[in-house]
Amino acid sequence: MPVPIIIDCDPGHDDAVAILLAAGDPAVDLLAITTVAGNQTVEKTTLNARRICTVAGIADVPIAAGCAQPLVQPLKVADDVHGASGMDGPRFATPTVDVVPEHAVDLMHRILTEHPEPVTLVPTAPLTNIALLLTRYPESAGRIREIVLMGGSTERGNRTPAAEFNVYVDPEAADIVFRSGVPVTMCGLNVTHQALATPEVLARLEALGTELGRTVVELLTFFAATYEQLWGFASPPVHDPVAVARVIDPAIVHCVEASVAVELRGQHTRGATVVDLHRYLDRPVNAQVALALEPDLFWDRVIAAVETLGKRGA
Ligand code: RIB
Ligand code: CA
Repeated sequence: MPVPIIIDCDPGHDDAVAILLAAGDPAVDLLAITTVAGNQTVEKTTLNARRICTVAGIADVPIAAGCAQPLVQPLKVADDVHGASGMDGPRFATPTVDVVPEHAVDLMHRILTEHPEPVTLVPTAPLTNIALLLTRYPESAGRIREIVLMGGSTERGNRTPAAEFNVYVDPEAADIVFRSGVPVTMCGLNVTHQALATPEVLARLEALGTELGRTVVELLTFFAATYEQLWGFASPPVHDPVAVARVIDPAIVHCVEASVAVELRGQHTRGATVVDLHRYLDRPVNAQVALALEPDLFWDRVIAAVETLGKRGA
């Protein structure tokens, strides 16, 4: 039976690939897409979710816009990484897929309440919506099967030396999620940097011969230029679909149990995820932490999903 999931995202080049993997792979049932401010403003991330769903022919999954600001600090977007639109590179037609009028948090709560079985939340963005869901509707925690998130890092950050972007934007929200008691799996930079969109991957996507395949190549080509310019990567790490892949087949993403704490007060380390892999501290285990990816299995699933969706729209 496919695992019911909701993606909470900030498209975002890699969020777009996560949406395609979730919509195109038969192992998951994408119940909703919710958006939040992060890579860009929530207006732009929502427009981008509509754009990628339009190109992919994903017309039956509700899209709901969420929080425009982090819980405490002002929003800091990543226009240096994702561009002014939040998803620079391809030219998109006016989207035909619209949003639903509900706020993202209310849509998540309604689905969690109404769905016959617990739902897995897959946040690939700052955790503002998720923290607000758990705070505004505490009873919803019991209807969440698991939170499998892209965020944090067992090593260094990518927005400060200590903080990964999704946690950096809203550390208070991440702290609420990791302390919520809901089962959490953390797919951090340490593992998502193994999900590299190499020239071979791009060639396989191009060879699909579909508009969607070409759009993904254009997205990842822009992303590659950014990652080469900012960090000297030969190929870009496509972070967000790693969290979806963990839900699709846990064998693709290897995890260990650990305690994870979010640093809120460090002068130089605010937004860091402090992952106690060696049990130095007497803190309870509160997360599964991803350490290794099976890249071939990962890219096979991503490319198969793009192929499946592209054939529908071809
Ligand atoms: O640090 C990488 C994360 O930040 C990804 O989710 C990317 O889309 C940005 O949101
Ligand atoms: Ca993201």
